[in-house]
Amino acid sequence: MLKRIFKLFYIARKLSVSGAIDTINEIHKLPTTLNLFFNLISLGSNTKLLDYQKSPGEKLCVALQGMGTTFIKLGQFLATRPDIIGEELTKDLEKLQDKVPAFDLHDAKKILRKEIGENFYKNIMDISEPIAAASIAQVHLAKIKFENHEKQVAIKILRPDIEKLFNEELDALMLFAYIVENAFSKAKRLKLVEVVHLLREITNIEMDLRFEAAAANELFENTKNDVGFNVPKIYWNYTTKKILTLDKVDGISIREYQKLKEIGVDLKTLAENLIQFFLKQAVRDGFFHGDMHQGNLFVDNNGNIIPVDFGIMGRLDKNNRKFLAEILYGFIQRDYVKVAEVHFQAGLVPQNASKDEFAQALRSVGEPIFGQSIKDISGGNLLAQLFEITEKFNMATQPPLLLLQKTMVVVEGVARKLYPETNIWEVSRPVLENWLKNMKSPKSTFDTAVKTSSEIIKRIPDLPEFIDRADYALKLMAEGKLNLAIGTNKNLEVEQMKLKNFRNNIIISFFGIVIVFLLVF
Ligand SMILES: Nc1ncnc2c1ncn2[C@@H]1O[C@H](COP(=O)(O)OP(=O)(O)O)[C@@H](O)[C@H]1O
Ligand SMILES: [Mg+2]
Repeated sequence: MLKRIFKLFYIARKLSVSGAIDTINEIHKLPTTLNLFFNLISLGSNTKLLDYQKSPGEKLCVALQGMGTTFIKLGQFLATRPDIIGEELTKDLEKLQDKVPAFDLHDAKKILRKEIGENFYKNIMDISEPIAAASIAQVHLAKIKFENHEKQVAIKILRPDIEKLFNEELDALMLFAYIVENAFSKAKRLKLVEVVHLLREITNIEMDLRFEAAAANELFENTKNDVGFNVPKIYWNYTTKKILTLDKVDGISIREYQKLKEIGVDLKTLAENLIQFFLKQAVRDGFFHGDMHQGNLFVDNNGNIIPVDFGIMGRLDKNNRKFLAEILYGFIQRDYVKVAEVHFQAGLVPQNASKDEFAQALRSVGEPIFGQSIKDISGGNLLAQLFEITEKFNMATQPPLLLLQKTMVVVEGVARKLYPETNIWEVSRPVLENWLKNMKSPKSTFDTAVKTSSEIIKRIPDLPEFIDRADYALKLMAEGKLNLAIGTNKNLEVEQMKLKNFRNNIIISFFGIVIVFLLVF
């Protein structure tokens, strides 16, 4: 218990000294007692002088970065949840840099040998110095003997002891969140305990590279017939919880469009392909790469797109996919009544809401966007505004759809950098149309008869019209949470019970310890 309390104070002091508390105060005034506590606990330290030119969000980024892995991850997680911290702050947190110094090649080799055993280790040759290092893992290049061939591979290795450090800090952070949430009724709204809990669930997955390997494998299988999109192959004998080995990408970063042009890649086609592959994965497979920034995308000599980094993937169930394809397609057709209908049929809008008003709100999102010149239209922004509206109508946005929307903004950004005139709507239309057609009729013999999305909807057998609406809506909502953290609620309850017990134990000694630790620091 002492260790946990010590960590708790350590984290609280870290928060205060880094300037995070000051910036949080600028964004959202904390209760006076809490501020007093933080002032006390940072006594005797040189509080970092923050750049006052920066916005509070930017300052928070600097502070979190200075606090290390756990807090960088916390910031990155919050950046994906505008529903919790608001749109503006998420934009700033998205800029959080994940760059940290690499660990030694010698240590990397030791981990490798220990993880895969001497026999397989013997087959690895020419292990390079790290080519990239982030807060959770780093990447080396090497060669392996595989079925009598020599293969060039990339090996991702978890940082030593990262899991222990992370879990210790999270334990303390969890306790901290719990105390704050219980001591200050206003803080309840922020769902701090739930946020820390979700962060733990997500990061525990990221810290097991077998999950990433499995994700790469699933994406490989889903896209093996998509000409132009090549997922690297995983080498399972060289993959463990702490190690991921996959084909080395033979290509140029998608960031280097000058170079790509020089080798004869058509940037317009490349941009269009990128958008289409992403949409196909989302609506056809319901499984998409959720981190498609330029650093994770490569292009080979033939213009094939090769993604890496499968740590964040999005999963959309069939209903979510239908919903997504219908609303995007509805917007493309500028048929706001249909889009509204989709929401109502899915039971997503409270029954007492007016369909006409909802359609009007949708129009207020769609029309200004279509009033822009084609090159400014963005599907991701459209979805973002749609979610803002749906929130006003008291619908909870589901995390998987939020991840999709965020990724869509990123993908469109990458495509526009390649070819600024890319017409996202024209590029998206065939993918959505195709998918909707296949959905309603695998044989597709009477496709031409079906023109509107609501007709298509009526033909899909397991639609809410055929199921109990309330049940369906509940299911959708539940899945929103489930996708991010399967079985979370039960775990969360257990965690909260543990915290309650723990709090009862420490409450008596709490103030005494405050004084002791103040003296120690
Ligand atoms: N298979 C690969 N071939 C070549 N380079 C790779 C490969 N996998 C990763 N890299 C390089 O290492 C970097 C970091 O790997 P990544 O999987 O993106 O880790 P992180 O999760 O830390 O971002 C990538 O941006 C890329 O430059
Ligand atoms: Mg990456």
